Formats: sequence, structure tokens, C-alpha cells
Amino acid sequence: MPPSSIVVGPPGPRQYRIDIGHGLASSLWARLDELGLGRQRIVVSTSTIWRFVASSLDPAAQTPAPLLVPDGERFKHLGTVSRLYDGFFKASADRASTIVAVGGGVLGDTAGFAAATFLRGIAIVHVPTTLLAQVDSAIGGKVGVNHALGKNLIGAFHPPRAVVVDPVVLATLPRREFRAGLYEVLKYAVIASPGLFATLQTRLGAVFARDPDVLVPLLSECCGIKARIVTADEHEHGERRLLNFGHTAAHALETVTRYRRFRHGEAVAWGMLVAARLASARGVLSQDGFDALAAVVTQMGPLPAVTDLSIDEVLEVVGRDKKVVAGRLHFVLPTAIGHAEVVTDVGHEELAAALRATGLKG
Ligand SMILES: NC(=O)c1ccc[n+]([C@@H]2O[C@H](COP(=O)([O-])OP(=O)(O)OC[C@H]3O[C@@H](n4cnc5c(N)ncnc54)[C@H](O)[C@@H]3O)[C@@H](O)[C@H]2O)c1
Ligand SMILES: [Zn+2]
Repeated sequence: MPPSSIVVGPPGPRQYRIDIGHGLASSLWARLDELGLGRQRIVVSTSTIWRFVASSLDPAAQTPAPLLVPDGERFKHLGTVSRLYDGFFKASADRASTIVAVGGGVLGDTAGFAAATFLRGIAIVHVPTTLLAQVDSAIGGKVGVNHALGKNLIGAFHPPRAVVVDPVVLATLPRREFRAGLYEVLKYAVIASPGLFATLQTRLGAVFARDPDVLVPLLSECCGIKARIVTADEHEHGERRLLNFGHTAAHALETVTRYRRFRHGEAVAWGMLVAARLASARGVLSQDGFDALAAVVTQMGPLPAVTDLSIDEVLEVVGRDKKVVAGRLHFVLPTAIGHAEVVTDVGHEELAAALRATGLKG
């Protein structure tokens, strides 16, 4: 299957391309040559990820040795950014250098923030290695790190110069990580694509088997949806909010469990069920629509439990979120499979009822 290309952003210097294709990472340097990117390229990864993916990358990208930082969300902080600056200086990086970030969302966000701020901003190319990073975090230019007071509180907008999406690197991704990314795929399907939803309903086995014939079009479709939305709304004022489908309840679930129980996508799966319950209780989503979504979530596999989590605690966290958005709770409700809208009038009681119907306690 030939690679596909998706353009992100309005015409101009900040516009970039996502290339999606089986085996693309093995000719990474030639791609970057085509784009005229950087006489000096500095590859950044984590030791864990590098061990898995190095052999799928262009040999030219493997020497000199990459700059490796520790793996995991708990290292997504300014200390790691500082180590990256040190590495960039040591490699004599200058404004013409290009950072090549090879990793999941954590590495991409951290390296992206380092690139955004080093010498007031140098070029970065993302080579995402998790499903979540391929369909979501590598696209859109949001970069940043966590602060002791909360996730992603330190950040910037720094669009990459290119994104190279190669499903070959997903072969080694643990099944739970892959599934966590797949819930974001389901999110795109519900907000924007009945066709993608049908693929998830009927080809789930092939998707989990990472069959390139199914995976490449699926990746292209998701990247296309995110690209279209962020191009229309770069700074998250309007349509980009649709991407938050499932995320209001998800963030609250992650917070009350201190980010220890759920992979992000798993919390999003619960959050989508909550939003869909609410939509169906309001009568804006049909019972069939709700049932179809719930069936796909069930088919995808087990989710960590929510039955011991308190509705009141979750509501309290959601309420705190609400203050941040000028006192109005933006909630994305699906109105059909493939369509969603943002509402700002969700009441306490109806959210409590949706959480109860989803299985939370209280
Ligand atoms: N910038 C954005 O727009 C945006 C959007 C969504 C999420 N995010 C961020 O993304 C982060 C989550 O990203 P993630 O889910 O990719 O997690 P991650 O980057 O921590 O990767 C998950 C795990 O998979 C392993 N891994 C990665 N690639 C692998 C491979 N090819 N083979 C085997 N193992 C591999 C990693 O070592 C890690 O243990 C969060 O910090 C979140 O805030 C950012
Ligand atoms: Zn998400």
C-alpha cells in the first residue's frame, strides 16, 4: 500500500505534512532530506523505546547514538527538559539543527517542549511509536511537561516540521498500550466517522493483529480527522473542543485514582460511556447509538473497574475543572455515531445520573 500524506495547518511556514506508510521509518533520513530538514539532526528517545524501535529505523538515524532520557510519565518534567538542553549544547546544536523525537506521547511532548524553547525554538520532527502518539499527540503542536501541581501545566504550541507515522514500530507495543490508543481511535469514529466506527465493529481482530492493510487506512483516517480539526482551530476555541469527547469524565477519573489505575485511553473509554449515557438520557443520542458504542467498548476488552469510585468525588473534580473554563462546563455529547456537539449546560444531577448508570458508587 503506498504511503499517504496529510497536510496540517494553513499554508505558510507552520504548515507540515504527516506521512503514513508501512516501513517509512526505515528511510527516514531520505524523507527529511526531501523536506530540506536540518544539516544536523539530533535523535531523542528513551532507553526503553529505543531498544524496541531502533532496528526499524533508518540506519543513518542510528549513528551517532541518540540522546536518551528516562522513560515514563513520571519523568515528564522540567528536569528532563534540562537534560535535553544539556545534550543539545553538548552536540553543538544551533538554530539550524533538527530534533527527531522517537517515542510515545511522553517523549514527544517533552522533546517538543525542549525544541520549542531551546534558542527560542528549533525544528522538530516526530516519529511517534505508540498508537496514541501516532493518531493524537504528535499532531497539533501542543507540547509540554507536568508540574507538581498538575499535568501538562507547562507548555507551548510548537508545530513539528514533519510527522512520520510507521505502523511497523507498533509491533512491539504491549497489547494494553495498543488498546489504550485504540480508545482514542474510537473517539474519532464517534465524533467524526461512521466508516471508521464500522471498521472497529467488524475488523477488530485484524486491528489488534496490527494487520497493515487495516491499520494503515485506520491511521490515515484518524490523522486526517485530527489534522482537519486542528487546522480549522489551531488554538482550541471551537471545533477542537470536539476532541475532548470523553475527556471531562476521563480527567476526573484519572485524578481521583491519582493517575495510577487507568491508562489515559482507558479513562477516555469510561468517559465516552458517561457522555453517551448523558446524551441518551437527554434524547439527543438514540438508544441504538448508545448500545453500538457500548458494544464496541466491550468488544475491545477489559477496562479497570470504576465501581468503587465515588460519584461525589468525581463531581467535585469536574467542578474544579469547570471553574477553569470561565465557570462553564463544556461537555461533548455524541448526537449520532459520527457526529457530536459541544454543550455548556450540563447540570450536576444529570451528570451524577450518568455516572451512576455507568457503574460508579453513590
Ligand atoms: N500533545 C498532545 O496533544 C497530547 C495528546 C494526547 C496525549 N498527550 C500526552 O501523551 C502522553 C501519553 O503518551 P503515550 O500513551 O504514548 O505514553 P508513553 O509515551 O508513556 O508510552 C507508553 C509506554 O509504551 C512504551 N513504548 C512506546 N513505544 C513503544 C514501542 N514501539 N514498543 C514497545 N513499547 C513502547 C513506553 O516505553 C511506555 O512505557 C501523556 O503524557 C499525555 O499527556 C499529549
Ligand atoms: Zn486523550
